[in-house]
Amino acid sequence: MERSADGVLEGSDIGSQKDRVVTEEEWLQKWETGNIGFHKEQGHPLFQKYLDVLLNGRSGLRLFFPLCGKAVEMKWLADMGHSVVGVEVSEQALKEFFAEHNLPYCEEPVPEISGAKKLQSASGNISLYCCSIYDLSSYVSLMITLMEKNSSYLVVTVSYDPNKHKGPPFYVPESEIKSLFGNHCEIKCLQKVDDFSDRHRQWGLDYFLEVLYVLKFVA
Ligand SMILES: C[S@@+](CC[C@H](N)C(=O)[O-])C[C@H]1O[C@@H](n2cnc3c(N)ncnc32)[C@H](O)[C@@H]1O
Repeated sequence: MERSADGVLEGSDIGSQKDRVVTEEEWLQKWETGNIGFHKEQGHPLFQKYLDVLLNGRSGLRLFFPLCGKAVEMKWLADMGHSVVGVEVSEQALKEFFAEHNLPYCEEPVPEISGAKKLQSASGNISLYCCSIYDLSSYVSLMITLMEKNSSYLVVTVSYDPNKHKGPPFYVPESEIKSLFGNHCEIKCLQKVDDFSDRHRQWGLDYFLEVLYVLKFVA
């Protein structure tokens, strides 16, 4: 791994994070204890900035939010007339989403997936599945099957020195994005944003970037 002029590590070595996973139980516990520093109450600024890249002037889209948590962007898109499908393992997160936006909803089992539930807004335009994304399929192949030709996927990754923090969030190098999606998608890095804060300093890091890509499905 090499350092660029601005001191940021470049390369595909994810070092000590190689075998690290966050289990479903750990995610559920984060929600139960309110340890949800990853949730942005005001939405993600890069999402707002690059929404046009994703929508490309189209209306009435069906938008998929994998690992949706209680992302407020789902409400914005529904208010714009799109429909939203999300998948999230924490039922608490999904219930908080509907409660925080004062949205009535109904619940129903998903017969195809044992233990899974669908929580759907009364207006019908927001359907959130409570199950593991791995119950649906493996994540990347799922995303690829969901993408129509020329459809776009905004994905944000984080970049920091993985030898200094074990995650989560996990460092995802650009080479990983290329190897996962490169056979099917044109990959464009839209922006790298310095998101370094005290939280990251406490983790022992000296830089922390968010890196936003748009993946355009071509074949
Ligand atoms: C980085 S957070 C995203 C949070 C979201 N953007 C928000 O604002 O609340 C990742 C989310 O994925 C969920 N998650 C983790 N593993 C999952 C899995 N295998 N299937 C479904 N959801 C999962 C976690 O519970 C967590 O809410």
